[in-house]
Amino acid sequence: MRTLVTGGAGYIGSHLVLDLLQAGHEVVVLDDLSNGHPRALERVAALAPRPAELVVGDVADVPLVRRALAGVDVVLHLAAFKAVGESMEHPERYFRNNLGGLSGLLTAMREEGVKRILYSSTAAVYSPQAPMPLREDSMVGPDSPYGWTKAQGEQMLSWMAARAGFSAVSLRYFNPVGAHPSGSIGEHVVAPSNLVPRVLMALTGHLPALTVFGSDYDTADGTCLRDYIHVCDLSRAHLVALAALERPGHHVYNVGTGRPHSVREVLAACAEVAGRPVPVVEGPRRAGDMPVAVADPARFHADLGFRAEHDLHGMVASAWRWWTENPQGYGPR
Ligand code: WQD
Repeated sequence: MRTLVTGGAGYIGSHLVLDLLQAGHEVVVLDDLSNGHPRALERVAALAPRPAELVVGDVADVPLVRRALAGVDVVLHLAAFKAVGESMEHPERYFRNNLGGLSGLLTAMREEGVKRILYSSTAAVYSPQAPMPLREDSMVGPDSPYGWTKAQGEQMLSWMAARAGFSAVSLRYFNPVGAHPSGSIGEHVVAPSNLVPRVLMALTGHLPALTVFGSDYDTADGTCLRDYIHVCDLSRAHLVALAALERPGHHVYNVGTGRPHSVREVLAACAEVAGRPVPVVEGPRRAGDMPVAVADPARFHADLGFRAEHDLHGMVASAWRWWTENPQGYGPR
């Protein structure tokens, strides 16, 4: 197939582009390089049987997207802003980029007659009141503008399926961690807010210590539980989900392992991989954190046979390798 991957120069996108190329698909990447890095695609090309084509630009640019869609069978739409905290400060950026981008993309797809789309959604669409584990039919009720834009994007896809004959799949990602086993592609982080990159920074002296955001939660060790998933499992999930686009309608799947891990378990796994303890300070709770966020991955497995393979140790070990072999990420842009 010929595929268009928006956000293909980003963290998850670069792993996905490599998997698509290795599976024999053609890939056009559309990325404005605001977070993605062109060197990611050079590294992908060194591992892949053929390179991806890169189109630099904005998904909201309908004429540009129409040109990029020539001959394309399926769109994998990953391009979006994804920082919950930033979305609280600047909701308008998220409305414009995430919803304006999807709206432009859908317009271009309709005009070009491309009707199959796989959409990058998030566990952040669920209501904090939803019981655990989270099922696809659990209550949606995001408490951040970021999560809201993703939930609205899912609604837009439902309408396009109902009114314009689109087939759509939304993948609700849980917490992606890790890097490609080659050590040559990974997450280019500048000022990370996510747990594992911050732990690795603390281990390598880039942060004085990792602050544990709350150790008085009602969990076994007092710290929050999350469903961490290896980025390679997450990438493979997209290839598996392509099969669901053969069916009309809009299909929604959680992509997680179903196995929660605490902050302290992540710290222990990182210390084991690095061979030294993580400097840690105990801090207050971070505003907006749910005590527990874990997927029920049963629907994706029942419908399409997907199951995540990598455990926490494998996630952290690959992240550590990427981090130590690429201390500047991909380097300056
Ligand atoms: C994990 C746990 C923190 C940093 C976010 C988004 C979500 C998704 C993934 C895109 C929490 C704790 C963290 C630190 C800590 N993104 N922590 N010290 O918040 O579960 O999810 O990223 O869709 O939408 O909300 O991930 O990695 O920030 O935090 O103790 O320095 O680690 O409190 O319990 P989160 P995270």
